Amino acid sequence: MKKNIAVIRGDGIGPEIVNQALLVLDKIADKFGHEFTYTDVDMGGCAIDKFGDPLPQSELDKCTASDSVLLGAVGGPKWNDVPGPMRPEKGLLRLRAGMGVYSNNRPAKIWPQLADASPLKPEIVEKGIDFIIVRELIGGIYFGKHETIEKDGQKVAIDELTYSEEEIRRIGRIGFETAQKRGKRLCSVEKSNVLDSSRLWKKVMHELAAEYPDVQLSDMLVDNCAMQIVKDPSQFDVVVTENMFGDILSDEASMITGSIGMIPSSSLGATSCGLYEPIHGSAPDIAGRDIANPIGTILSAAMMLRFSFNMAAEADCIENAVSRVLDAGYRTGDIFSPGCKKVGCTEMGKLILEQL
Ligand code: IPM
Ligand code: MG
Repeated sequence: MKKNIAVIRGDGIGPEIVNQALLVLDKIADKFGHEFTYTDVDMGGCAIDKFGDPLPQSELDKCTASDSVLLGAVGGPKWNDVPGPMRPEKGLLRLRAGMGVYSNNRPAKIWPQLADASPLKPEIVEKGIDFIIVRELIGGIYFGKHETIEKDGQKVAIDELTYSEEEIRRIGRIGFETAQKRGKRLCSVEKSNVLDSSRLWKKVMHELAAEYPDVQLSDMLVDNCAMQIVKDPSQFDVVVTENMFGDILSDEASMITGSIGMIPSSSLGATSCGLYEPIHGSAPDIAGRDIANPIGTILSAAMMLRFSFNMAAEADCIENAVSRVLDAGYRTGDIFSPGCKKVGCTEMGKLILEQL
């Protein structure tokens, strides 16, 4: 198959980790007889430096014209003081909205080889950690009006949080369908004891439940969910939640599996053109030192093959290669534990390539 992939290396460790993922994709193309071509796209801080804009329309157009997008990470201290609408992160939000990828899928699964790296007690980890957070990605407070006004002699900041029934329904369906393919349990997470948007969220989820009788729906308040994720993560199969709650809970969920550096994500909308990125940031403190963990990005490339290109065998091949490298005891610094062999980003990429 021929596929054109838009590649956004971004800032910080972005280029290092994406380069390793591209080597993996090239090897897969070779092995399975595909042709992957890459279109470079500038987004984030590097695009601010180059164009004065974190995502010019021409760069977004390259993404929507591609078969899918692979992204490293954006942002860094250099651009911390640029005004809100021009921040590197705004480029990412405009990309998500421009591609219409409303459904973000973030797995929280413990690799047995990394059980030691989890900060949770062994008796909690032993019960198993294997759930998915389905996060609404292009609505809610991220995309409401943001403004800071003067009122009664002081500054007042406003961030608007809006959800329509339709926005909730379409992500709700993804939640139910994801649960149908797994353990058939869906936990809808909201703050309906305080927020109107959450009360509407809960109502729509319960309306949808009638269409998915094989899925068991439960409700959980977001503060309780944050607690339950560390108390007993084995209770979760699929969590569906709004944009900001999903942002926060997915960082928490990644940490209990050992490292945020291991977690890939997929974002999809109405078409098969998806956005694939590790859930971690640009880690400017370790950028350029060849010590970042490329696995989250490599597994994101695997998700792209599986979900956008229907290449399940190819995706399995990558995931198995990662597993074998972990079996052999190789670890980047973020997942290192005594007795293992510490390797850098390039070396980790090379080890995975050898296992493909
Ligand atoms: C994420 C990140 C982004 C988000 C930032 C970089 C805007 O934290 O993908 O989780 O908040 O969505
Ligand atoms: Mg986040």
